Amino acid sequence: MDELVALCKRRGFIFQSNEVYGGLQGVYDFGPLGVELKNNLKNAWWESMVYENDDIEGLDSSILTNPLVLKYSGHESTFSDPMVDCKSCQKRFRADQVPPECKKEDLTEPRQFNLMFKTNVGPIDDGSSFAYLRPETAQQIFTNFKNVIDSTSKQIPFGIAQIGKAFRNEITPRNFIFRVREFEQMELEYFVEPGNDEQSLDEWVQKRLNWWKDQGVPIEKIELYNVPTDELAHYSKKTVDLMYMFPHGLEELEGIANRTDFDLASHSKKQDELNITSNVEKNKHSNSKMAVQDKKGDWIVPYVIEPSAGVERGILAVLNEAFVKEDLGVTLSKKVKNSLQKLGLGRVILENTGNIGKGYRRHDEIGTPMCITVDFESIEDSSVTIRDRDSMDQVRVKISELAEIYKNKIK
Ligand code: GAP
Repeated sequence: MDELVALCKRRGFIFQSNEVYGGLQGVYDFGPLGVELKNNLKNAWWESMVYENDDIEGLDSSILTNPLVLKYSGHESTFSDPMVDCKSCQKRFRADQVPPECKKEDLTEPRQFNLMFKTNVGPIDDGSSFAYLRPETAQQIFTNFKNVIDSTSKQIPFGIAQIGKAFRNEITPRNFIFRVREFEQMELEYFVEPGNDEQSLDEWVQKRLNWWKDQGVPIEKIELYNVPTDELAHYSKKTVDLMYMFPHGLEELEGIANRTDFDLASHSKKQDELNITSNVEKNKHSNSKMAVQDKKGDWIVPYVIEPSAGVERGILAVLNEAFVKEDLGVTLSKKVKNSLQKLGLGRVILENTGNIGKGYRRHDEIGTPMCITVDFESIEDSSVTIRDRDSMDQVRVKISELAEIYKNKIK
């Protein structure tokens, strides 16, 4: 991971955000190459969802979110992580991410910490008028359900896709861009008739695996994880996580959830008329009926299948797959240097400089009798180039002959 992080900075992919002022934990900036890579990944997703499927429409909704949306979605009451304090090191951790140095007896009892960011809206800053920064792009897809149906005449099954920023006040952001406080999600909410939900989930898992393969993340490197009931999000009947072996370990790249009718029903008025199957809070504020009528005129609230992928995690996976450490002969150069050094004919120095011609001239000036260049071909054919100071001749010789040539030259 450290090498990948260094390369990302060196080559302009990803920078620590606000670095000139010491940074801001859990946020990153994408540089000239990073932004292109990110756009490529997002465009590939958008094309595969919106352009290649006539039953999927796009959306770009606001980040600032009316608190009522996140009250009825269940986020105000349940979108939290258990947090503990360590009395010894005075630091805070997510309860399942306490480092081994902290002793159990030094930890406080876990208490719930809500992950949503709040911000003030309008000119009065007394807390009376606030909005949340959305913690997932999904909710505004649900609240726009009727708008999209009314404006596109879509019938179920159909989907709404959105890419955009999401914000979570993670207790312990970590592992480079894997867990951050500001990130982007690529989310599809696919609305199906209740009863067709389980098959649809299976189909989306396959489609998403194939899409990741097309992005250079092989299916063999992804494990499917059926999230156990006690770990499921409050809205989910079943979730399959695509787990990828990141540089720091096997973790979630994307989640594909069966959100049932929970969200549409939660945001709906006149819930009593809608044959809702989920356990939802009575909605006293909504002015929209988030349901469709079947041929008999009965109201049904569609079930939702949601493939939800993080852009940053996608970038990390793609970079990780593309990252190859090439041995440019350094190991071989070390071997050559050591074998010549052992002959006891004086100091042999190893240099790893870019311009070989300039290097030769520098060594001419200081009197180095001969230079030996190890290059890409040396690894293939076990030969090196010798360059003589006095004649300036360059000859290619086998590494096995090198000791003899060197002894003859120096003696
Ligand atoms: N709408 C469903 C939802 O938000 P989630 O599993 O909480 O579900 C979906 O998030 C995806 O968003 C994850 O699989 C991951 O790729 C990404 N994600 C979530 N939290 C993240 C974070 N703190 N930093 C980076 N990516 C994150």
